[in-house]
Amino acid sequence: MRVLVFGGSGFLGSHVADALSEAGHMVTVFDIKPSPYLRNDQIMVTGDVLDMNLVEDVIKNHEIVYHFAGIADIDECATRPIDTVKFNILGTVQILDACQRYKIKRFIFASSAYVFSNSGFFYCSSKKACESLIEDYHNVYGLCYTILRYGSLYGERADKRNSIYKLIKQALSEGKITYYGTGDELREYIHVCDAAQGSILILKPEYENQNIVLTGSEKMRYKDLLEMIREMLDNRIEIQIKPSERRAHYRVTPYNFSPKLGKKLINNPHIDMGQGLLNCMAEIYGQLHKEKKVEVCAY
Ligand SMILES: NC(=O)c1ccc[n+]([C@@H]2O[C@H](COP(=O)([O-])OP(=O)(O)OC[C@H]3O[C@@H](n4cnc5c(N)ncnc54)[C@H](O)[C@@H]3O)[C@@H](O)[C@H]2O)c1
Repeated sequence: MRVLVFGGSGFLGSHVADALSEAGHMVTVFDIKPSPYLRNDQIMVTGDVLDMNLVEDVIKNHEIVYHFAGIADIDECATRPIDTVKFNILGTVQILDACQRYKIKRFIFASSAYVFSNSGFFYCSSKKACESLIEDYHNVYGLCYTILRYGSLYGERADKRNSIYKLIKQALSEGKITYYGTGDELREYIHVCDAAQGSILILKPEYENQNIVLTGSEKMRYKDLLEMIREMLDNRIEIQIKPSERRAHYRVTPYNFSPKLGKKLINNPHIDMGQGLLNCMAEIYGQLHKEKKVEVCAY
């Protein structure tokens, strides 16, 4: 099928674009910045989701639309509420509107496990608003959709906004990890490649008009995660847990607000977290020591 991936130059979008191409789809990436991961069999369109004419022009040649574009960082959204509404909510409506006019077969949206939560501030409000708008476009115009609520992603191509990337990078470059919180915070981690596989599995008809939870099966307390990283580095790093002033992130569970119920999808087989973390370490070590050749395993 002809598939358009908004935000396909980013961390998650680029992995989904790869998985779609591997599965034989014709992929166009639309992003405000050119993709460093673009394959020879993919087309790049550089532009802003707020540019309605361009968005429309590109959408009309496609059958399926994935939407990962916008401000993806909770802390960044907390300091840029107006931009969050502009790029994340208005941007989504522009895409939705073009999708319904050009009879797109399915609109697939990157939401978050944070929609269940009262934490996450403007990031969370923008996801809740988008979910609601998507359901309205379905109810009013019959536009088919799948909403994917991702958990905490980790893996190759992450950057300094990603929590696991930050921990490993500090461990490798400073020999210590300073974690702000209690250490009891729980997260459900999913490797980005598993998330990408799940994101294309849902193209099957049974996932039409469904809200799917892609949080993975690796539930972990921060204390245990930090210990795991320390063990992997031969116990040579120091771990400091300091109290946090931040209120944007949930502690144990995101579940205290219930939008439309979602079904959880777990890939089997999936990438073991130990293996996934080792690969992240190899990638980050390679970025810190460009003179050394470091091998990252293929999955
Ligand atoms: N990374 C996670 O752990 C995670 C978890 C849950 C949900 N999500 C959601 O998945 C989506 C992608 O997240 P990510 O981690 O890949 O973030 P990312 O920042 O790596 O990707 C977002 C992409 O959108 C592009 N973009 C931003 N504004 C744009 C605009 N105005 N027009 C066109 N392109 C624009 C950016 O250039 C970037 O390539 C986001 O909606 C995010 O909320 C991510």
